[in-house]
Amino acid sequence: MRVVVTGSSGRLGRSVCAGLAASGHEVVGIDLAPAGLEGVDERGADLADARGTERMLAGLRPEAVVHLAGIAVPFSAPERDILLTNTALAHTVLAASAAAGVTRVLAASSPTVVGYSSPAWRAASVPIDERHPLEPAHAYALSKLVIEETVRMFSRTTAGAFGFFRPCYVVSPEEWAGAPTQQGHTMAERLADPALAAVSLFNYVDARDAAGFVDAWLAAPGELVDGEGFFVGAADALATRPVAELWREFAPGLGESADRLTGREPVFAIRKAAHRLGWTPRHDWRTELAAAVSPTTRGTTAETRTA
Ligand SMILES: NC(=O)c1ccc[n+]([C@@H]2O[C@H](COP(=O)([O-])OP(=O)(O)OC[C@H]3O[C@@H](n4cnc5c(N)ncnc54)[C@H](O)[C@@H]3O)[C@@H](O)[C@H]2O)c1
Repeated sequence: MRVVVTGSSGRLGRSVCAGLAASGHEVVGIDLAPAGLEGVDERGADLADARGTERMLAGLRPEAVVHLAGIAVPFSAPERDILLTNTALAHTVLAASAAAGVTRVLAASSPTVVGYSSPAWRAASVPIDERHPLEPAHAYALSKLVIEETVRMFSRTTAGAFGFFRPCYVVSPEEWAGAPTQQGHTMAERLADPALAAVSLFNYVDARDAAGFVDAWLAAPGELVDGEGFFVGAADALATRPVAELWREFAPGLGESADRLTGREPVFAIRKAAHRLGWTPRHDWRTELAAAVSPTTRGTTAETRTA
């Protein structure tokens, strides 16, 4: 399948392009600047240019578009810029895809749409799945909710399948190896201090697993994914102790239903993606970080394993 991936030079885009190319897709990456990706036809373009984007997609005539480009970190730009940039880019890319007759379009949303960034937030129930209420608490989360509704609008009005996914905190292969994450700390530091991972409710996903999800989404029958959203996360929590032991101190918004989480179970459920698409993650922090964890963390991990 010929697939266009926007945001191809980013943390997630690089792995999505590599994964799709490895599974036999013809991949065209669009970003402001190329990243030098092997086996990917990279095009430099500013997707804020609506006419240019429409011309480019009409010329490329892809069968599928995966829209990842945007401002990916809350508060990394003025709130108004995040809202306007992310929502405008998504509408531009989805409208250009529809105009070019693309029949498979997947856009990146975020788990932040449920609203956990606000100190006043309380989970309706844990584990959190796709039925959880949405209460965005900053412009980034609001932009993602608008993107989800934009996807649904195209799903209602356009032939083909339009859907979205909510990748958890994306960890790229180089970040497992020690490169700084989007917050500046390393993955070993994020695990050693539960307060760091609690900010995103201990969620994470390996970028290659997110790529596997995209591949599975593209292969699924249209009626299973059209207008639908999916949480995409790891099978465990990013924590050396069970979330049921940590939430009272570090994530009180989860509330007492978090006591139901057993062992390594993550806060965000990935059952829907498993049931509908047959997708399950293959990577977890214990194996990926084995070479990088500190002696203290390694000891805790061993205890958790035998618990
Ligand atoms: N990284 C995460 O933990 C995470 C979690 C949930 C959702 N997401 C979403 O996934 C997507 C990808 O995230 P990421 O971590 O790879 O972000 P990233 O910042 O690493 O990559 C985003 C890419 O979009 C490109 N881009 C931005 N504006 C553009 C424009 N006008 N024209 C062309 N390209 C443009 C950037 O150059 C960049 O390469 C984003 O939509 C993000 O909101 C990411």
